[in-house]
Amino acid sequence: MNFLAELRVRLRSALLSFTDSPDAFVEMLKPTQDGRFGDFQANCMMALAKQRHQSPKDLALEFVAKLNVADLCESPEIAGPGFINLRIQTDKLAAETQRLACDERLGVPRVDRPRSYIVDFSSPNVAKPMHVGHLRSTVIGNSLCRVLRFLGHRVQSDNHVGDWGTQFGMILYGYKHFRDDTNYRQHPVAELARLYRLVNQLSDYHACVASLENSKLQCHVQERLWEASRGEAIGKTQDQTVARVQRKIKQDLDGLRRDLESAQKKIEAVESDPLLKSRAETHPRIAELSRRETALLHTGDVENNRLWNEFVPKCLESLDTIYQRFGITFDHSLGESWYNPMLAGIVEQLQQQGNSRVSEGATCVFIDGYAAPFIVRKADGAYTYATTDLATIQHRVDSLQADCCLYIVDSRQSEHFQLLFATAKRMGYDATELRHISFGTVLGEDRRPYKTRSGDTIGLESLLDEAIENARRIVDENSSHLSDTERAKVAELVGMGAIIYVDLHHNRDSDYVFSWDKMLATTGDTATYIQYAYARVCGILRKGEVDVVRLRSESHSVQLATPQERTLALQLNRFAEAVSDVIVDYRPNLLTQYLYETANVFARFYDQCGVLKEADPSLRTSRLLLCDATARIMKQGLDLLGIDVAEQM
Ligand code: ARG
Repeated sequence: MNFLAELRVRLRSALLSFTDSPDAFVEMLKPTQDGRFGDFQANCMMALAKQRHQSPKDLALEFVAKLNVADLCESPEIAGPGFINLRIQTDKLAAETQRLACDERLGVPRVDRPRSYIVDFSSPNVAKPMHVGHLRSTVIGNSLCRVLRFLGHRVQSDNHVGDWGTQFGMILYGYKHFRDDTNYRQHPVAELARLYRLVNQLSDYHACVASLENSKLQCHVQERLWEASRGEAIGKTQDQTVARVQRKIKQDLDGLRRDLESAQKKIEAVESDPLLKSRAETHPRIAELSRRETALLHTGDVENNRLWNEFVPKCLESLDTIYQRFGITFDHSLGESWYNPMLAGIVEQLQQQGNSRVSEGATCVFIDGYAAPFIVRKADGAYTYATTDLATIQHRVDSLQADCCLYIVDSRQSEHFQLLFATAKRMGYDATELRHISFGTVLGEDRRPYKTRSGDTIGLESLLDEAIENARRIVDENSSHLSDTERAKVAELVGMGAIIYVDLHHNRDSDYVFSWDKMLATTGDTATYIQYAYARVCGILRKGEVDVVRLRSESHSVQLATPQERTLALQLNRFAEAVSDVIVDYRPNLLTQYLYETANVFARFYDQCGVLKEADPSLRTSRLLLCDATARIMKQGLDLLGIDVAEQM
């Protein structure tokens, strides 16, 4: 039973005798960290007493008299300045734990009002290799879909692949001028990725050369400013404002230096390679001409459309091999191109509704509070990422009947989504909830965006292979009793689990540093630790030759004789809370946190309480039931994150 939720209901109804707006106070009931203060503690009396100009202790006394928890808790205690401590009756806890242990859903109820969700995630750009940024979107999106479905919502996942944007023009340009036919025949997707990188590199080169003098000048000016500010600050080092300004000047200088250095490196890389250099010289307008290829594609050019039809299926197939490794399938993979026929209509509608106006030849929507307009048609007539996203909303709301659309996309696109949602609202799409579920960047040990040795943003495939290779070493060390094939299988799920878990266990808003050592550690907050813990519990049941199906069906009573058993029982009953907490603000890290705690609580239980060697048969059975419920919760919880387990490791 979700005791927290139930107690909050009770608290709320008692609070209604004291206030018309109880919600904020209800939230103040929390599980305690320390059993001496009960299982749950409410500190809302202090805040409420202040409102009512009353002593918190007196109020607490009055309140407790109105609080109806006699069927769940021992009599409430008032502690300190007015804390209310609640302790679940052990009999009740045991009965609820027994019920949970026999319940297929492990005590997690389905929601009363299911909603229809569209989850837009992964969404890489085809023909450009998927990178770690798309990895975050992929694992967060997959886990949210799983949790929403488990809770009974209707979910349609949609991989909004970028198959229509400017990168396609670059590939077309590359294919027409630089392709290696043998490579293309043998490894078409790798060849297209190489062509994309080449065109990108040459375009970047020309852009860097064009802005080099200006960058040097900016750097020079900022250096002067930095020197001047240091002179200014002599003798005033205590002054906070001066220090802050100085820090800002230095930060900007460092940024400019980094940009200059990176531009110089890009120029150097091309100029030191005779082939690249000659290509750069013979293709001075490469960026502009690539854009023209995109425009030709969009306006129906036969050759470009033929090539597009040849490239895209190959690219989607190669993406699928990655999704298979994650066990992910999408309900829709419409892609940007699918919306092409709707784009003119979107712009027309905006114009007719008076929501857009033409500025410097481009059709724009202006939203208060934003300096940049939302451009839906460029001066050259091309539609944009923005127009496509508006058409996508139209389709998702009108045809797919979405109540809520989630966009799992990195935080650099925040402004795009703010403008998108504001524009959609103006178009009349205001009944559907639109949410950008943003996330931070994956960093290398140098705290810069994660790169491979070659300096590329790492390709996802090789990252997964590396994870599994590293996992194999851990598994060889820890699971020498398994056969070679078994170890290979375990290494696969340990490697994939490590990658998925490390991403999910960070608060999604924050950047995180990617480190193989930490993510594969067998102790600490990792998938590996929880997977091994799961296998250990399975090992106990196996060794005891327990028929788990019978164990679950025979309604044996649960006994909570020791504090460790009681704590474990409370923890198991919190599974429902952890799962439903995930979707309050779409944060899978609340579930990883719960699973990690569960593994720890179980370890303390197993350390103190004998299971197989317990002589009293009914106590032994009760403990086996706790073991079995723990294992099932770990397995189900990891499954909701998209992570597999093995019963033997
Ligand atoms: N393809 C985009 C990128 O790689 C992400 C698309 C996200 N979804 C959307 N509906 N805009 O940056």
